[in-house]
Amino acid sequence: KTSDTRCDLMLFGAVGDLAQRKLFPALYQLECAGLLAPESRVLALARRDMETTGFRDQLFDNLKRYVKPAEFDAGVARGFLERVEYRLLDFTDPAGYDVLQTWRDAPDNELIVYMATPPAMYGVIARNLKAASCCNENTRVVVEKPIGHDLESSKVINDELGEVYNENQLFRIDHYLGKETVQNLIALRFANNLFASQWDQNHISHVEITVAESVGIEGRWGYFDKAGQIRDMVQNHLLQLLCLIAMDPPADLSADSLRDEKVKVLKALKTIRPDMMDSYVVRGQYTAGTSDGKPVPGYLEEEGANKGSETETFVALKAEIENWRWSGVPFYIRTGKRLPEKLSQIIIHFKPAPHYIFDPDQKHLANNKLIIRLQPDEGMSLRILTKDHGLDKGMRLRQGPLELTFSETFETDRIPDAYERLLWEIMKGNQYLFVRRDEVEYAWRWVDQVIRNWRDSGEPPKRYAAGTWGPVASIAMITRDGRSLYEDV
Ligand code: BG6
Repeated sequence: KTSDTRCDLMLFGAVGDLAQRKLFPALYQLECAGLLAPESRVLALARRDMETTGFRDQLFDNLKRYVKPAEFDAGVARGFLERVEYRLLDFTDPAGYDVLQTWRDAPDNELIVYMATPPAMYGVIARNLKAASCCNENTRVVVEKPIGHDLESSKVINDELGEVYNENQLFRIDHYLGKETVQNLIALRFANNLFASQWDQNHISHVEITVAESVGIEGRWGYFDKAGQIRDMVQNHLLQLLCLIAMDPPADLSADSLRDEKVKVLKALKTIRPDMMDSYVVRGQYTAGTSDGKPVPGYLEEEGANKGSETETFVALKAEIENWRWSGVPFYIRTGKRLPEKLSQIIIHFKPAPHYIFDPDQKHLANNKLIIRLQPDEGMSLRILTKDHGLDKGMRLRQGPLELTFSETFETDRIPDAYERLLWEIMKGNQYLFVRRDEVEYAWRWVDQVIRNWRDSGEPPKRYAAGTWGPVASIAMITRDGRSLYEDV
């Protein structure tokens, strides 16, 4: 199975956080799983002046640090390091690229170029690689978000990449698509007719998509303050989740069939006009509070903070999809930093049965709910109503779960990290978990409008204390619609 995946991986930005914390540990896991072909090699590139031996020593320490102790095997790690070579390279200097040619001594290996660099470098690297004849029409090129900070800048980046590579060579990463539970949305929806036949405005009243994080800015103030939560999380991860929940069944599992359906959803998103902002969007910024019981500073007191910043660290949005399937079904999206816990979940609220015959006091229980837990505690739970046990209970109802917890049911002790899956798919040349140019652009188009409205209104974000679920206005936005967020009753 590994012979068709042999590759030469050039990793630009190899000493950076992403490479050290995510990419090398993921490659190490692929090595452990026996998925790296014996011929596959990695060329680590960065500006730091060091030799391969020094780089390997440092990488060994970092693997030990970032791989869970129970999964770390020093022998396997050393074997993996044998594949890795380091070269100093100034990415902007075309002359330096000759060194890459000399490294490539097995032309049969597919070349993968991974740009773990700031996006401003993508075009430069692409042009320099081409000038040094370091790529051809089979080369695969991997880029990370953010692809720009708005529609216009994303087009510039995509154009620069497009001058050198065809769309079928480009692997734009949204690491949420590499999460097992996110891929499972496709299986859940299209392998189970039970859900397929209920999945529209006739049966669903509203959908909640929550991606909450307990961490704050983690030393990334410089990047984050220019982005904010809407660019950092909604434009990519949250809209991808929304697409997977809302898209029509694809004809097959090919990359373009899936991506065509996702694009149709993004195209159908209702534009949020300035006069709709109050009832469709809430933005927040955290103040000092607590996290895991410990006091933490507010966003404006974080290291490196600009005290006058009005960047949002929380956003709640009501998204509406203007098509036959979803007309009248709001998708309540919320995501934030310094919320009480790390939790990503999707909740499908079904409409009540057409005629209710039980105790009127219990009517609020009557909507079935499907809770899809993406992380942590991956699994799903269908809330259904049954009769409460006991002679004295009459026909009192009780809500109970039909529960599927992946770790218990499938006895899996390990769920692969998103980057393991993504790197493996890149090696196989499969694009279905990567984002196509038009997806990026339609997502920006929708998000840009909201950002423009914020800018034009000049309204600052609402404050919320670290360790709470965001500004109360985000709950009010939903209750005003006569709907509620899921509560475990
Ligand atoms: C990244 C964002 O894309 O996703 C971060 O830039 C965020 O701000 C992270 O913390 C969340 O990813 P995960 O996999 O931990 O949910």
